[in-house]
Amino acid sequence: MARPTKSIHGEWTSRWAFILAATGSAVGLGNIWKFPYITGENGGGAFVLIYLLCIAIIGVPLMMAEILIGRRGRQNPINSLKSIADEEGRSTNWQWLGGMGVLTGFLILSYYSVIAGQAMAYIPRAFSGVFEGVTADGAISIHKALVNDPERLLAWHTIFMLMTVGIVVRGVQHGLEKSVRIIMPALFIIILMLVGYGYNTGQYFDQSVQFLFAIDFSKLTHTGVLTAMGHAFFTLSLGMGAIMVYGSYLPKKASIFKVSLTISIMDTTVALLAGLAIFPLVFANGLEPTAGPGLIFDTLPIAFGHMPWGQFFGGIFFILLLFAAWSSGISLVEPIVVWLVENKNMTRLRASVYSGVIIWLLGLLTIFSFNLGREWRLFGLTMFELLDYLTANIMLPLGGLLIALFAGWVMKRNSSMDELGLGNGLLYSTWRVLVRFITPIAILIVFANLIGLLN
Ligand code: PHE
Ligand code: NA
Repeated sequence: MARPTKSIHGEWTSRWAFILAATGSAVGLGNIWKFPYITGENGGGAFVLIYLLCIAIIGVPLMMAEILIGRRGRQNPINSLKSIADEEGRSTNWQWLGGMGVLTGFLILSYYSVIAGQAMAYIPRAFSGVFEGVTADGAISIHKALVNDPERLLAWHTIFMLMTVGIVVRGVQHGLEKSVRIIMPALFIIILMLVGYGYNTGQYFDQSVQFLFAIDFSKLTHTGVLTAMGHAFFTLSLGMGAIMVYGSYLPKKASIFKVSLTISIMDTTVALLAGLAIFPLVFANGLEPTAGPGLIFDTLPIAFGHMPWGQFFGGIFFILLLFAAWSSGISLVEPIVVWLVENKNMTRLRASVYSGVIIWLLGLLTIFSFNLGREWRLFGLTMFELLDYLTANIMLPLGGLLIALFAGWVMKRNSSMDELGLGNGLLYSTWRVLVRFITPIAILIVFANLIGLLN
């Protein structure tokens, strides 16, 4: 199976277009909704430290691996892996790794869309002044009212899926670039304003800094470590082929190392700032850091309800959050659609609609897990918790492990060196040692720990 030199779906117009799109994929609900609540659930500092270590040691090298595989293969993850393996004289069974990625994207988007729908539901609430002067209890009951109502969640979930499919139908290279260029800086500014609001709470801001950065390993469980690692994958969009597909549209000359570093730094900054914005509100209002997935919806309205121009900024914030989720959602379906187009001979329209409908249906499980189906449990987890655990904590790290092995062991030294374009110096050797040994071993240790093999 020959490997094309260009993707049939086109290329990014520049290196910046790729950085913007990949940042659009990375920065999303993972940073603003998920990072704060899982940090709260897992005791803060030590969890954050593990997360940061995973970003540096696993995330950056793996992002480079995904981009290089994508750019070398120039097709959907399944075909890219298959044709590279074939070229290197290895088993084409590696394509199944791409298949798992496509499936992971399916599962993630089904709940991602429901949460994005909640962010969307907050846009009219914020603009119309519902949060004006709201108390912590008030904010909690506003969120409860939303999640207790399956019809409303369904309506917003439907709109989000339509928006996402609408873009994917037209091909992701068009439009994504321009919107991300505006959304990201604007989102950054409003988060900074929220951090400023938190800063004014004085002692509670200090308490938050303590919570996020003071390291106390006694608070960290095995599951906490797994969650931190899983989140490093989730937040950087790694382990399922999203970045691989975006890499397949990357022009040959761009430096994979620089773009990976840039994206990872931007993503991490947004997450840490989101933490600094949320926790002062948590502590100042006597809320629990362990409140779970509703955390941002229970806290941010309080800030918007009390700050000058809060009605306006609140509305804008949820619009921006929606856009950030949108650009991530798009990258979650793109691998599936490209696969259906390339391997199943579908048109982009048909492929997008089919995948959209199935993901939309699957989203019902998450919707019901917040209300009618709260008691439907498997292994003690609700359907939403189960999907989240399975994808973020198991499937993404497993995918990442195999991608690292592929880049480090299946691809010959010359192939990856040629594609990375870093020469044969220290930087390249460090990367190769990381993907060959450090990344796989780190992932295996965390898995082994979890199932109690190392105790
Ligand atoms: N990285 C996105 C976020 O943080 C989520 C995502 C995961 C997107 C996996 C694509 C692939 O919100
Ligand atoms: Na992210």
